[in-house]
Amino acid sequence: MRPDPGPADNGRVSHSTLIIDCDPGVDDGVALLLAFASPALDILGVTTVAGNVAAALTARNARIIRQIAGRDEVPVFAGCQRPMIRVPVEAGHFHGESGLGDMALPDVSDEPGPHAVDFLVATLQDHPPGTVDIVVTGPFTNLAMAMVMEPAIIGRIRRIVVMGGARLEGGNITASAEYNIFADPHAAHVVFASGAPVIVHGLDSTHQVRATENRIAAIEALGNPRAAAAASLLRFSRKIEHEIVRGLDAPLHDPCPIAWLIAPELFETAPCQITVETASPLTLGHTAVEFRDAQDSPHRWVTTANGQGVFDLITERLA
Ligand code: RIB
Ligand code: CA
Repeated sequence: MRPDPGPADNGRVSHSTLIIDCDPGVDDGVALLLAFASPALDILGVTTVAGNVAAALTARNARIIRQIAGRDEVPVFAGCQRPMIRVPVEAGHFHGESGLGDMALPDVSDEPGPHAVDFLVATLQDHPPGTVDIVVTGPFTNLAMAMVMEPAIIGRIRRIVVMGGARLEGGNITASAEYNIFADPHAAHVVFASGAPVIVHGLDSTHQVRATENRIAAIEALGNPRAAAAASLLRFSRKIEHEIVRGLDAPLHDPCPIAWLIAPELFETAPCQITVETASPLTLGHTAVEFRDAQDSPHRWVTTANGQGVFDLITERLA
């Protein structure tokens, strides 16, 4: 029987040795800034994937955020350049042409190194079983491909913590699908069907974490480069939310899995069984979240998030 994938340390500040797989992306950028500023997280590497913008840009953007955070010792590995099967779909309209909103972009150089999928496999093979967490805040392509390339890594993962899916909130890229799942539904199927523990921050909980003007101003008032970068990314989200969604306070999706690893008491989860629609043109990428008879399932659906608590954590760590 696998250890319960719920929060470790009975809700106190948890420690995590992890890989962050992402598609920066304005909210991925805030998630990385939070992670890079959190001593409780031992980041073995950042892997990037095509998603919000093309793979070359998401890798560059992760290196830009890393430089702003002063964490150049953390390696960044570029990954898959397209989804496993479906045609690529980006979300540039929500993230700006660069993928980092309208932030001024410092120069960063490429760095040679293994492909993200090779890094995921090698790292999980090199560390004792049950010691490495995998966070995914973009399409699940890299992790799914690693599981296909080397199924033995599945049993070695401590926890997979993702931003993706939706139940009560409907979809944000189509009427019935959330972007990260819609962008690579087959990869999401591979990950959910793998049997590994997956904690899932879907729109149901990330929509409870909103970037209000006061919360952004509190970060801006910190007056250091990483806080300024976070505020710039959050302000861009607000602008786009207002223009495209006619909403006001933009939901802050990708920092939620990071915040859960640091302060799990800010969230509530429930056992469930998640399956993904991979065939229907109408509902492709839909996540069916079933709570009935799910006690033995390795999936957890995040049902509530303390929005103010998440922003207080971000403000505290970026100070
Ligand atoms: O649906 C929200 C997700 O899609 C976030 O990860 C955001 O970065 C986009 O990739
Ligand atoms: Ca993302």
